[in-house]
Amino acid sequence: MGIIDKRKKAIAMGEDTNDDLLGILLKSNTKEIEEDGVGMSMEDVIEECKLFYIAGSETTSNLIVWTMVCLSLDQEWQTKAREEIMQVFGNQEIHFEGLKHLNIVTMILNEVLRLYPPGTMVTRATHKETQLGDMMIPSGVHITIPIMHVHHDPELWGEDATLFKPERFLEGIMGATKGKGSGCFLPFSGGPRVCIGQNFAMIEAKTAIAKILQRFSFEFSPSYKHSPFPSFTLPPQYGVHLILRANGLSP
Ligand code: HEM
Repeated sequence: MGIIDKRKKAIAMGEDTNDDLLGILLKSNTKEIEEDGVGMSMEDVIEECKLFYIAGSETTSNLIVWTMVCLSLDQEWQTKAREEIMQVFGNQEIHFEGLKHLNIVTMILNEVLRLYPPGTMVTRATHKETQLGDMMIPSGVHITIPIMHVHHDPELWGEDATLFKPERFLEGIMGATKGKGSGCFLPFSGGPRVCIGQNFAMIEAKTAIAKILQRFSFEFSPSYKHSPFPSFTLPPQYGVHLILRANGLSP
């Protein structure tokens, strides 16, 4: 509240030049209140900040940490990913153009998003009677789409559904779902309320994984305990204990 208050005062004095997310949100809200007399309350602004924190930060850090878990489990894919990263960047700094050429890393991230979707489910409620396919759903019904269960369903993914096999995504998402469509793979949900940060999240995750693999090899520590904990997101309940070794190739 202190941060928001300070910013609001600065905007009122015409002093605020901060165009980060909070700055943009407050400026557009102030304008809306001035023009239409309605806008978000202080509580609404705080809730928006919380949403961006949880939606944008927790989720991406979950993705990065489960990727490190899967690559600790599967050293072969760790080596393949590092080889690709070294081929694209050598030991230079990571750059945006290069990220587009990380095909193996993208396959790995998609497979991790399938096995450990940071958003484990989405819920919706009908506010009026709604036709959904051949079903008529009455008003006031809560519907849960259990993303994690869909991603682990052997009928959709085959008997090896629970195994880490990035090669599923060799031909992209359509190839992995064998033409069954995007309904089988929805780590970022879908439709009009699809995650607005999905491209940003993939760029962040690729950058982090590329920087880590450029510098380190890693494996499980003997104290590692597998503890995915489906709650609002999918954190490891007991953390992730890994042993990292500098590989001497750092930029
Ligand atoms: C791996 C990372 C991420 C995953 C798996 C993820 C997943 C999701 C999912 C499943 C939803 C739909 C939630 C629902 O409808 O109930 C969603 C919505 C949303 N995400 Fe993400 N997200 C990620 C990263 C981000 C980032 C980086 C940002 C922002 C910078 C972000 C911002 C949002 C916002 C604002 C919504 C709500 C969109 C709306 O309702 O119109 N997300 N995300």
